[in-house]
Amino acid sequence: MEAINIALFGLGTVGAGVVNLLQENANELASRAGVRLNVTKALVRSAKKARGCDSSHIAFVDNADAILNDETIDVVVELIGGTTDAFDIIEGALKAGKPVVTANKALLAERGTELFALSCETKTPLLFEAAVAGGIPIIKTLQEGLVANRIEWIAGVINGTCNYILSTLARTDAEFDDVLAQAQAQGFAEADPRADIDGIDSAHKISLLAAIAFGTQVDFAHVDCEGIANLSRVDTDYAGDFGFCVKSLALARRCDNGELLVSVSPTLINKSHLLASVSDEMNAVMCQTNMLGPSFSMGRGAGSLPTASSVVADLVDIVRHRENAQRFALIHPVVTADAGFSEDALAKNASPYYVRLRAQDKPGVMASLTQVLAGAKISISSMVQYPLDTQTVDIVLLTHMTTGQAVSQALGSLSTKMSEIDELVHYRVADFLY
Ligand code: NDP
Ligand code: HSE
Repeated sequence: MEAINIALFGLGTVGAGVVNLLQENANELASRAGVRLNVTKALVRSAKKARGCDSSHIAFVDNADAILNDETIDVVVELIGGTTDAFDIIEGALKAGKPVVTANKALLAERGTELFALSCETKTPLLFEAAVAGGIPIIKTLQEGLVANRIEWIAGVINGTCNYILSTLARTDAEFDDVLAQAQAQGFAEADPRADIDGIDSAHKISLLAAIAFGTQVDFAHVDCEGIANLSRVDTDYAGDFGFCVKSLALARRCDNGELLVSVSPTLINKSHLLASVSDEMNAVMCQTNMLGPSFSMGRGAGSLPTASSVVADLVDIVRHRENAQRFALIHPVVTADAGFSEDALAKNASPYYVRLRAQDKPGVMASLTQVLAGAKISISSMVQYPLDTQTVDIVLLTHMTTGQAVSQALGSLSTKMSEIDELVHYRVADFLY
């Protein structure tokens, strides 16, 4: 049987998963792809490191050209991460006419325009299923399965590390840093885990999904992005009392005024909603489209084998389309049309909000709060007071529909006016999910 020779740039968590998967499912893959998929070369930083897979058949090289100039290599898989060396590798591979598979969402969100253009110019495929939601085939779903639909919105829990942290904190007394360390030990986190907890990784991913779904470039640097580092356990507990759980939710949505909203933020989701049941490193993506209506995909969003599942799916696609690679290379997210992406769409777009105010328990605090909200035309739908001790109280409320802008301004003016206030937080409630 014919064999395809694959070179891996990077043999860490995902790279080892690819080697293990190709070994474990070799026979199924050979019959489905019609060829054998062999990893023959790899570039890593340290050739001496233990690899978490059988690498005895792989020749380790110490420079990229040893792969890019090797005519026996048919396909390149980039799994080193980062936006510099990885860019050079993919650029070099495409120029050499070698199809590329990558899981590198940071690179594609930040510098994808150049690489996708090069892929079109060189008529060489650049595939990236693993870059969003790990093992869930969401890129293929959007590019192929939903191609006949107009997408209204996409909402996703698309960072395994954040979801692992939030769901572990919700069911145990563990500390944030310890749970993050567990996520790192299991290979879910980025090399710099601040990319996960600050929401940047989700922002990379939702930018890519929005580009595909809405046919536009989304300037990643301007995606409205709030992480989970400042989310306090009291807020997840109080949200629970109101019937919600808090998820790091990525959203790409066409607003009523036509603007395209792309955001990542801690968001309250009704406990009975499917997205609320997504726990640990699981990811889920929900799409609302004009013909199918709602659809929901769930699966492991991080980790060695789930991510390898998507990488190898791309390899099989490349093999299946190799007679027609030039056409295949044209399936890309970047279209230059202006789809109305707006940096402040989140703040302007109406939603209910969760608000918590921690204050000294003195007469007038509640009156000032309700007065300020009324002045901003923010209507309260429910409110509970949680005394913390004899002197301090948490006042927690849910609003009816309002805007983030109105809530921020009202709370800002309240904290300037009242020295009794210690903390003020607000989070969006995802009312549009069904
Ligand atoms: P790891 O850190 O586990 O592995 C990175 C690999 O790349 C290592 O083998 C490392 O070598 C090698 N490497 C790093 N920099 C260089 C360099 N400059 N030159 C040569 N080799 C280099 O990362 P992951 O496997 O977790 O992630 C890889 C990519 O996949 C990233 O883009 C990540 O965002 C993405 N991804 C990861 C997922 C996950 O669950 N982990 C899920 C989805 C996507 P050495 O081993 O010698 O240090
Ligand atoms: N660090 C990422 C996450 C890996 O936790 O989701 C998968 O993209």
